[in-house]
Parts: sequence; C-alpha cells; structure tokens
Amino acid sequence: MTQLYSQISGWGKYVPEKILTNYDLEKMVDTSHEWIMQRSGIAERRIAGEDETTATMAVAAARQALDVANLAPTDLDLIIVSTSSPDYFVPAVSSTVQAMLGATCPAFIIATGCTGFVYGLVTAHQFIATGAFKRILLIGVELISRFLNWEDRDTCVLFGDGAGAVVITPSLAPRGVFSFDLGSNGDQGHHLTLKGGGSANPMSYDVIDKGENYLYMNGREVFKFASRVLPRSLRAILEQSDLSLQEVDLLIPHQANARIIDMAVRSINFDPQKVFLNLHKYGNTSAASIPIALVEAIQEGRVKADDKIALVSFGAGLTWASVMLQWGVSSQNLNGHGAAAAMPVQAEKVVI
Ligand code: UT7
Repeated sequence: MTQLYSQISGWGKYVPEKILTNYDLEKMVDTSHEWIMQRSGIAERRIAGEDETTATMAVAAARQALDVANLAPTDLDLIIVSTSSPDYFVPAVSSTVQAMLGATCPAFIIATGCTGFVYGLVTAHQFIATGAFKRILLIGVELISRFLNWEDRDTCVLFGDGAGAVVITPSLAPRGVFSFDLGSNGDQGHHLTLKGGGSANPMSYDVIDKGENYLYMNGREVFKFASRVLPRSLRAILEQSDLSLQEVDLLIPHQANARIIDMAVRSINFDPQKVFLNLHKYGNTSAASIPIALVEAIQEGRVKADDKIALVSFGAGLTWASVMLQWGVSSQNLNGHGAAAAMPVQAEKVVI
C-alpha cells in the first residue's frame, strides 16, 4: 500500500475580543501584574463574551482553516474537537460544531485537557495514514473562563479562552506527523481536576458550596511534572524520527508558563530563538494553546517549507503528547485567508 503522510493544509484561529489584563485582575483578587509576569510570563488573556460558547469559537476558527484549505464543510470526512470545556456533557460539542458548520461527516471529542490537540493530531494521522479518511478538521478549543473561580488567584490568573483549527489531508511526499509520543500518568490526576458534575460527584448544592464546580490545580506539582516531561517527550520524538536537537527548526510548546518552557529548554541546551511563545497575550488556553500558537507562527513567517516543527504538550491527566512535523508549504503562501488556493492539497493525487 502507498505510504500516506498527513499534512496540515489549512489553519485558523479565533480569540474573543475581550482582553483581561493583569491590571484588571489586580482589582479582582490579591495579585499583581509583576507576580503574574514573573511567575508565568502572562500579561493578558482573552475572555469569551456572553453570547459565545465553545462551539461558536470552534466554528470561527474552523471556517478560517477550511478557507485556507479551500474546502467546504461538506467535503469533510471527520471532525475532531479537542476540549475539556464543552457546551454540554451531552451532546458532544463536536456534533454541535458539525451542525453549525453544515458538515455531514462523523464527529467526536477528545478530552485530555491541554494535550487534547496533539492527541487529536495523532488520531487524525492514523485515519489519514490508513487511507480511511482524506479530509479531517481538528479543532482545539477552550472556554475555560466559565469553569474558573474568579476568587481563586491560584488559577484565575493563568487561563484564557480561544480556539485553533487545522485541516489535515493526505500527502504522498513526506509531510506532517512523522513521529509522536503520547503518555498518561493517571495516578497524578488529582493535581489538576474539575471534581464536580461527573458521575463520581454529581452536581449538587454541596458541590457548589465546596467550589468543586471550578477548576482546581496544584500548580507546584504540575510545574514539576511539566518541567520533567517537556524535555523527555521532545527527546522521544527526536529519537523516533532520527533527528538531532539541532535539526529542529521550531519548537511550539504548550503555552502554560514561560518559566517551565525556559527551564526545560535550558536543561537540554535548545536554542531559545527557535521556541515560539505567545502566552503573554493569551495565557494558558489549554487544548487551544498549540493550534493558536501554530497559526500565529505561520502568520509571523516563522514557518518555512520543509521546517521540522516539534509540538510538545502536557497537562491534566496528567498527560503528555508530542509530535514531530515536517511542514509542507512555502512561507510566501502562508499569510492569512485563501492562501491554500496557491497551495498543493494532495488529497486528489492519492490512490489508495
Ligand atoms: O495547562 C496545564 C499545565 N499547567 C501548568 O503547567 C501550570 C504549572 N504551574 C505553574 O505555572 C506555577 O506553579 C504557578 C504559576 C501556578 C505558580 O507559580 P509558583 O512559582 O509555583 O508559585 P507557588 O505556587 O509556589 O506560590 C508562591 C507564592 C505562594 O505564597 P507563599 O505560600 O509563598 O506565601 C502563593 O500563595 O505565591 C502565592 N501566589 C500568588 N501571589 C500573587 C499564588 N498565586 C498568586 C497570585 N498572585 N496569583
């Protein structure tokens, strides 16, 4: 059987208009701009408007990605939505997104927290590599602000809302995902939880009184985990793809904390110039952080044809997920909407 690669042939992002700065947060909880900047590198984050939902943000990012890929929603074979802050438990927000887009394909969610987008990319890659599907829309989206306790300074200063989307199609040339590393330390799950509302602890007045309807994070433990796992998982995808650290052109880590990224990168002597960071603008957008960063890296001209790009994520579970990608399009085609018109989407050429 012909070897099929899974290239990213469309991309888009959506962030809500409303900006919440560290100075705004100073008026809400006992914190300071200096503390948040120094401990996390975050200056501001976006907060969804009252009329927005996880699905509306996902659809806004998806429409851009479809535009770039020059595809209609009805062309899609599969939609994967990675999120841990869905509109409802039931139905899955992937089906809501499918209906809002006017797509007719199957759809499902992945809910591994901050690693959801990369788990989704690896999943999409399997469907493409086996020839089962040719046009997959993958969205990482979070409307996490509705699950935060705005009186808890440990969490509310760190997170933000947003969405990023990619379209994944087959390629005969080596493109897209060529190695991955997925993992889960479920015994550490209690360090990052939203305890209330599930089958183990159904929603009740008691749950609300205890604040278990909000996200809880043991920041120090997650910090330690993330600092360990980031370099380890990066090494794993490099080894599998037979690449050296020097051959990586761009590292896009999960945008949780600039200090975690800085420490991890220093520990392996990786060139900090090759690390893409935008968390100062958006905070931690969980499953949306890597796709939003990827889209901005493309738009800022940081991604060139044949570049080797490492995506490394870590978070709730506790899980990790990393992917080594080879970029498949030239940088002059990479600015904004409609770019894919000039870009080879190879799905048509594939014989399965
Ligand atoms: O996306 C999922 C992955 N998530 C992450 O990767 C997050 C990982 N963790 C972190 O990013 C960091 O642990 C935090 C940014 C959450 C906290 O930074 P830290 O350097 O680990 O601070 P800390 O928890 O050790 O707290 C230091 C001090 C404490 O005061 P005491 O006990 O030393 O008196 C906290 O109470 O800072 C205090 N503090 C704050 N002060 C001002 C905690 N939150 C705040 C705040 N403003 N917002």
